[in-house]
Amino acid sequence: MPTDTYKRALDLLATKLLEDEPRLGVQFPYVTDETGAWLTMPASHSAGYTGSGWSHGNWFCGFWVGLLVAAHLQTGETRFLDLARERMQLVAQRARDGSTHDIGFIFESSAIPLVWVTGDPDCAAIALNAADRLRRRLITTWNGAYVSAWGPLDDERGRRSSAIDTMANLPLLNWAAEHADDGSFRLAAEAHACMTRDAFIRSDWSTSHAVEYDLVTGERLRAFTFQGYADWSCWTRGQAWAIYGFTETARATRKVDYLVLAENLADYYLARMGARLVPYWDFDDPTAPNCPLDSSAAAVVASAFLTMAKLHPDETTGAVWQHRGLAILDALCATCLASEPSHRGLLKHGCYSLPHRIGTDSAVLFGDWFFTEALCAAVMPGKLHPVPQRLARR
Ligand code: GLY
Repeated sequence: MPTDTYKRALDLLATKLLEDEPRLGVQFPYVTDETGAWLTMPASHSAGYTGSGWSHGNWFCGFWVGLLVAAHLQTGETRFLDLARERMQLVAQRARDGSTHDIGFIFESSAIPLVWVTGDPDCAAIALNAADRLRRRLITTWNGAYVSAWGPLDDERGRRSSAIDTMANLPLLNWAAEHADDGSFRLAAEAHACMTRDAFIRSDWSTSHAVEYDLVTGERLRAFTFQGYADWSCWTRGQAWAIYGFTETARATRKVDYLVLAENLADYYLARMGARLVPYWDFDDPTAPNCPLDSSAAAVVASAFLTMAKLHPDETTGAVWQHRGLAILDALCATCLASEPSHRGLLKHGCYSLPHRIGTDSAVLFGDWFFTEALCAAVMPGKLHPVPQRLARR
């Protein structure tokens, strides 16, 4: 598909952002309802347990800032940057909220692109504080160390928990390592990646969604799911987070082994897809094809493939990943783009959480973000994020 299609998708994003901004006040979109209207919540909505129930809180707010930055890059208009800066002031409070690993998502999609595009030192300081909160979630055991996923660290459930999603929160630590010239951030991220490799990845290269560790020994006590179909199933977005996260780990550590691991995870993903390009929400939902899709998983994978393409030590293999990433983008543009003005998201047919019945056939803000990240990588490499530097052969 010609890049004009991708540019039109970015123009559509810019139009929708400008239309929605005045209606939002201090709220941030997270998923669309059945009419296509955004459901919103304030940035301050923190993650936490209510009884035994876990709520992820507002881990979406940073994506809105990143979308505004991308719209600025697409249109060249400073009003998007002004809006991004205003929104960043609302998001900044979450840099002190260490209750969730999703602090990575919040700031790697907001402050970090702002730093890259504008060089703003205040945004850099905010992102560095957030990275410090994420690093404090590192739990050290006899068997390695991991970044705990869900909940305050004075809650044992929070300390024990680890989720595959955390792999995509590690770029905040890796950015901080570079920015502050403090390798301890990268060591924390790589320690987490190693424990995840050993505890989450099954022999067929599918992944578990979540794991609980023994706090002393680091032994895996159980593998389970929170947002997938079953403890034994492969939740599609979880597999996407793993592909993305290990690709980013290869980029940060310059170690080809993590890229090879990401390729194995990607091969599993592609084998389960067959001819499809937009996946079902869980590869093992027995009701398929009568079950929701998850376009956001496809967007995450497309973005990862475009990074793999640039990182791969073998340029010919890199070109294959580029082709696969663009094929997914083409399918998303052809079948999921919310062109109708009544639908306020960019990418339809995302699935936030089927078990919790939230946003099960919706635009989900992280889907819009990773789709936009991939579109930008395709049409304006180096503008939203630095271009990945090719790894040396082993
Ligand atoms: N918390 C990340 C996700 O829903 O994928």
